[in-house]
Parts: sequence; structure tokens; C-alpha cells
Amino acid sequence: MQKQMNMPDKAGYAFYDYDPPEQDMAQAVLAGLINEPKFIQPKYFYDQRGSELFEQITCLEEYYLTRTELGLFDTYLGEVNNQLSEGLCLIEYGSGNSVKIRKLLESLTPDAYVPVDISKDHLRDNAEAVHRDFPGLGVFPVCADFTSRLTLPPQVEMLEKMAFFPGSSIGNFSPAEAQLFLENVRATVGPGGLLLIGVDRKKDASVLEKAYDDATGVTAEFNLNALAHINWRLQADFDLDAYQHIARYNEAKGCIEMFLRSTRQQSVTVAGEQIAFAADELLHTENSYKYDPDEFRSLAASAGFIVDRHWTDNRGWFSLFLLKVTS
Ligand code: TRP
Repeated sequence: MQKQMNMPDKAGYAFYDYDPPEQDMAQAVLAGLINEPKFIQPKYFYDQRGSELFEQITCLEEYYLTRTELGLFDTYLGEVNNQLSEGLCLIEYGSGNSVKIRKLLESLTPDAYVPVDISKDHLRDNAEAVHRDFPGLGVFPVCADFTSRLTLPPQVEMLEKMAFFPGSSIGNFSPAEAQLFLENVRATVGPGGLLLIGVDRKKDASVLEKAYDDATGVTAEFNLNALAHINWRLQADFDLDAYQHIARYNEAKGCIEMFLRSTRQQSVTVAGEQIAFAADELLHTENSYKYDPDEFRSLAASAGFIVDRHWTDNRGWFSLFLLKVTS
């Protein structure tokens, strides 16, 4: 009660819409398809069906990432909590997985929660559900492109900031983009600020390749769904049976690369334009970089963070880092 009287604007709910510019989908997709080599931006995996398929991926036997990270949360969030002082604002980049964020909200009991996402409806649904289920927690969703610099809501100004970026999503950036992203996070959390981040580690190519090419074909369907999505959104006519899902580990880059291979010579119409594919031509769809702890430590350092704590599972497959802004 006392707390509420003193800080009336810290609880409650407010939606901050910074109106991130929307890319024209036809233009963006065509730009990738006329490029040499061809590519599709990974965000086009995600229509309704794509989001469902991704949910299924996170439950696959072969896809150890989600399960392992959740195990690390269960074991170590208590230790994370010990590193925090009073009055915490938790900033979630890409408000996706409600299971993970709810674990954090329960263990770390922050005063404010700021989910950041580019997708307005998704962000609002998630934020309103959290606001309902966590009374007393200030919920201040920010609709913005989190790869650019972020202005935090004024309500959280005086709180300690901890950003949260789970799922090894950092691996979907190139190392150079990852550094830029981390620099932005550093600017957002400010001096003494924290970042809790899940990072998938380098390991046996066969383990990695199975995680991105499961026996039941869910990941293949997820990859192909980018074409299905383009078909309905852009009146395109990709023949999904004429493309094959490829996931291969590029050891030199430390990166899983995903492609769709055109199984024959073919021509596709996309938003009124003709696109020619040679037989065996590869269309690039996603990268997933893997980091050894020391590599990630130096990436973090290049962006102004030090590793405050590092936890890993007993197989050494996945890392959870608590990074701190170097003062
Ligand atoms: N960040 C996750 C990863 O790289 C999620 C992901 C992105 C993914 N694209 C994917 C998972 C394609 C499976 C298939 O693992």
C-alpha cells in the first residue's frame, strides 16, 4: 500500500506505440528473390501457421534448445535473483514465449515489465494477459523495432534494468549485427544494467543438424511455410513439393544455415514478377550462429558488457549468461 502511494505511476498499464515503419512485403520479398544468391528474410516464416509450427519445433525431441534453457531457468533463476537489488524493470526483447517470461516474473518479482515487439497485436495480447495475471506489476509494452535504439517508458526510469533475450535468438543475427544489437541493449539498460541471454553452443554437427532437420519433418514444414506464406500474401505460385528443406552446419562460420533447394528448373510468379530457379539452386532462409562461451564473452565485451555469471547444462550444450554493463 505504502509503495503504491509513493509511486502511483509505476504500477498499472500503458501501451507505447512508436509506430515502427512497416516494410512493403512484396518489395522486400522480391528484393531477396532477385538477389544472387536468393534469400527470404526469416520473418516471413511467421504467419499463423508458421507460429504454430515454431511452437511444435520447441517441443521436438531433436530441438534440445528450449528444453535445456528452461532447465537452466529452473536451476539458476534463484541465483540470478541474488544478483539483483531492489526495484527491477524486466525488458523482454521479442515478446514471444510466455512460458519463459512467466517463469522470470515469478522468480524475479520485478516491479515493471516492458515487452518490446514489432508486432502490435501479438504484443498487446501478451501484455494484457500478463497484466491480468500479475496484479501489482507495472506492464508497459513498447511497440518498436528492437534492432534500433529504444526509448523506455518514463515509469521505469528509476528502476534497475534487466533485459531478457532467450532462445538463442542472438544466433539469428550475424556476429556484426549481434554486436550492434548488444550495443543497443547496453544503451537501453544503462550503467549497471543487466542482460539475461540464452545462447546455443557449438557442438557436434550431427546434433546441430538434427535439431534443425527433425525426423518427423516439422522443421522442413516450417521452412517451407515461408513459401506458403508468400503464396497467400503475394498471390505467388510456389510449388511447395518442388523445394527441399536443407539445414547444414557450416563449421567455419559456426553457423547452421537453412535453405530451400529448388529440386528442378522452374519459374515462379511473385507479386506479378517472374522469378527463375535453376535445378538445385539454393534459396537461403535462416542462419543460427553458435557460440563457445569464450567467443560469446568477447562478443559481449565488444558491446560493453562483462559476463557477471555463466551457467550451462551438464552436456555443455547451451549457455545462460547474465551480462552486466561495464561502468
Ligand atoms: N533462434 C532459434 C534458433 O536459431 C529459432 C529459430 C529460428 C529456428 N529459425 C528457426 C528454429 C528455424 C528451427 C528452425 O534455433
